[in-house]
Amino acid sequence: MSERETIHLAADLSFLHTDFLWRMPGSWVGYPYYSSSEFYEDIAKTAQQGRFDLLFFGDTGGTSEDFGGNHDAVVRNGVKWPRHDMTAMIPILARLTQGVGYALTMSTTYHHPFHCARTFNALDHVTKGRIAWNAVTSAYKWEAMNWGFEEMMDHDERYRRAQEFLQVACELWDSVEPDAVIMNRESGEFLDPEKVHRLDFKGDYFNVRGPLPALPSPQQRPVIIQAGSSGPGMDLAAKYADLQFSTRRTVESMKQHRAAIDEKLAKFGRTPRDLGILWSVRVQVAESVSEARAKEQAFLDSVPPEGGLIEMSQWFGVDFSTAELGMTLTDFADQVREQKGNLGTFDELLKTTDLNMTVREFGRDYMSQRVLVAEGTPKEIVDKLEMMHYETGANGGFILARGFHASDNITEFVEHVVPELQRRGLSKKDYSGTTLRENFND
Ligand SMILES: Cc1cc2nc3c(=O)[nH]c(=O)nc-3n(C[C@H](O)[C@H](O)[C@H](O)COP(=O)(O)O)c2cc1C
Repeated sequence: MSERETIHLAADLSFLHTDFLWRMPGSWVGYPYYSSSEFYEDIAKTAQQGRFDLLFFGDTGGTSEDFGGNHDAVVRNGVKWPRHDMTAMIPILARLTQGVGYALTMSTTYHHPFHCARTFNALDHVTKGRIAWNAVTSAYKWEAMNWGFEEMMDHDERYRRAQEFLQVACELWDSVEPDAVIMNRESGEFLDPEKVHRLDFKGDYFNVRGPLPALPSPQQRPVIIQAGSSGPGMDLAAKYADLQFSTRRTVESMKQHRAAIDEKLAKFGRTPRDLGILWSVRVQVAESVSEARAKEQAFLDSVPPEGGLIEMSQWFGVDFSTAELGMTLTDFADQVREQKGNLGTFDELLKTTDLNMTVREFGRDYMSQRVLVAEGTPKEIVDKLEMMHYETGANGGFILARGFHASDNITEFVEHVVPELQRRGLSKKDYSGTTLRENFND
C-alpha cells in the first residue's frame, strides 16, 4: 500500500475543537460549530495545497464517566466531547478537493458488516474513490452502554468479532465483480448475473446472504486502516489492513513495531509494502525550538492541572482522580489491564516513560508529549521526519496529531514544512492518481 519511499502526509482532525483547544486562538468560540463546514473546508483545501493523502476522523460514541465517577469533568472541560458523526461532512469536502482522501471510523464491535459495506461503497462512489475505513475495535465501556451492553465485550472477543466482520465486509465488496456492469440498451442486459455472487456466510457473529446490492465503486474496497497494537490487533492489521496508524514515542519503539508487523504480514502471505504505517507525530513549526516550546507552554497554561488525568481516565477506563501524591503509573497498571481497553498504548507508555514520574506529573506531560514531537525550524523538523522515515523502512508516512492551534497548525505545516519536504524529494509535488489507493502507492 505504499509502494514507493515517499513520505505520505495525513492529519488527524478528530479533536481539533475539544481537549482544551477550544480555549486557544482560532478555535470555535463564536463559530456555528458543526452546522457550518467552512472550518473543515479550509483545512481540506490547505491539505490539498500540501499534497496530503488523507484527512482522518476518529470516532467513539460514549461519554466517559471514568474521571471522578461521572461525566462532569469531560463535559465541563470539553474533553473528547462532543463527538459528532462526521459522515455527512465527507461528501462536502470531497467535492471541494482533488487528491485528498478521507478516513472515517466505524466500529466492528457495534455495527453490522452489511451496513458498513453499504455505507463505504456509497462513500467510495461519492468521493470518486477517496475513502478509507478506520476499522476499530471499541475499547470504551461508556460507548458499550450506548449500544445496549451492560459490560464491554472482552478484548479478544472484540477482535474475533472484528476478524469475522472484516471477512464479511470484504466479501460483500467483492460480491459484484468490477466488470459486471453491461448496461446495453440494445440487448437489454443491465448486469451480468454470472459476475454477481451470493456469500451465504454463516459465522459466529453474522449471517449474511449477499450480494451487496450496489454497483462496484472506484476502489472496490475502501482503503482499510487498523490501529490496534496488541497481539490480536496486529494480527487483524496484518491480514486485512492497507494502512496502520501507530502511536510510538521513540524511534527504537517504532523500529520494533515495524519489525513486528512485518513478521506478521509474512505469516499471512503479504509483504511489508502491502501495509504502510502512518506514525502519529505532533509538529510545531517556529523560528527556533525555544519558540516552539513557548507555544506549547501557552497551551499548557490554559489547561487545568488535572487536564491530562481527565484524558488518561477516558483513554484507559480508570479513575485517575484517585491518584494520590507520589503514586506512579505502575501503581495503576493492574487496574488498566483489568479494563482490557487500550492495552497496546498503555504498554507503550510504560516502556517509554520515566517510571519514577508521579501520575500527576505524567498527566501534565501527557497533554503535550503523548505522541512523538518534531519541533523547531522547518529544517530541524524535516531532518527529524526524514531520519524517522528511513529508520523505519520508508514505508508509509506521518499523521499529524492535533497541534495547539486549530487550524493554524496545519496551515503552518503546509506553508513552511511541506516546501522543505518537497525540496528534498521526500514528499510529492503532485498527485499522480485519482483514487486514494493510487495516490498512496505513489
Ligand atoms: C492513532 C489511533 C487512532 C485510533 N482511533 C480510534 C477511533 O477513532 N475510535 C476507536 O474506538 N478507537 C480508536 N483507536 C483505538 C484502536 O482502534 C484500538 O481499539 C486500540 O488501539 C486498542 O487496541 P489494542 O488493544 O489492540 O491496542 C485508535 C488507536 C490509535 C493508536
